[in-house]
Amino acid sequence: MFITFEGPEGSGKTTQLARAADYLRAQGLTVLQTREPGGTPLADRIREVLLDAANTGLTPSAELLLYAAARAQHVVEKIKPALQRGEVVLCDRFADSTLAYQGYARGLDLNLVAQVNLFATGGLEPDLTLLFDLPVEVGLARAGARAKHLPDEQREDRFEREEIAFHQRLRDGYLHLAKAHAERFRVIDAAADVDAVWQRTRAILDAEVLRRRGR
Ligand SMILES: Nc1ncnc2c1ncn2[C@@H]1O[C@H](COP(=O)(O)OP(=O)(O)OP(=O)(O)O)[C@@H](O)[C@H]1O
Ligand SMILES: [Mg+2]
Repeated sequence: MFITFEGPEGSGKTTQLARAADYLRAQGLTVLQTREPGGTPLADRIREVLLDAANTGLTPSAELLLYAAARAQHVVEKIKPALQRGEVVLCDRFADSTLAYQGYARGLDLNLVAQVNLFATGGLEPDLTLLFDLPVEVGLARAGARAKHLPDEQREDRFEREEIAFHQRLRDGYLHLAKAHAERFRVIDAAADVDAVWQRTRAILDAEVLRRRGR
């Protein structure tokens, strides 16, 4: 089963993914934790380029293709083999991030982004996508508070420097995707505290993972 964690910066994806991994492992499942961009040595090197705030000259099309290149490698080298072994794959961001960021927020043609995604994933789609949704200001405040504790070279904040309107388009785009793919998306109110968000996340995992395993 392939489960992706989506949402803007600071929405709690990484926090909740870690809890989900512990929880599913405690139930006896074999879990692969991974993230995008990255997940393989080659894709991690592309990640460094993409998230480096110094790369201000990156054009939108180059950005799109770098994400796609990292994803293509990640799918073939890591995600598909794990799924074939029968593992549960938890992935921090995936193709929906590209639609939300490069499509809805950045303004690239949505059909083009979808085509590039299709090419990169070879048609692999998540079975379940958890969308951590929250007001833009709340997410940015959280991400900002976190960045303060990191040395400059560890701050992955190229997007955090975007204007508020960018983040609003991002949120709206994600919600639009959730409506368009209601069969696999579950929207979680991520403005609540960590434990409350986890209760909701766990309830969805209970329902969805058990439902699929019981089939
Ligand atoms: N529900 C919550 N309430 C308050 N703070 C939270 C909550 N969830 C996470 N945080 C804190 O907010 C910050 C961002 O959380 P996290 O790193 O999980 O978000 P993220 O969605 O993975 O962000 P990014 O997209 O930037 O990786 C962290 O400092 C985390 O401890
Ligand atoms: Mg994260």
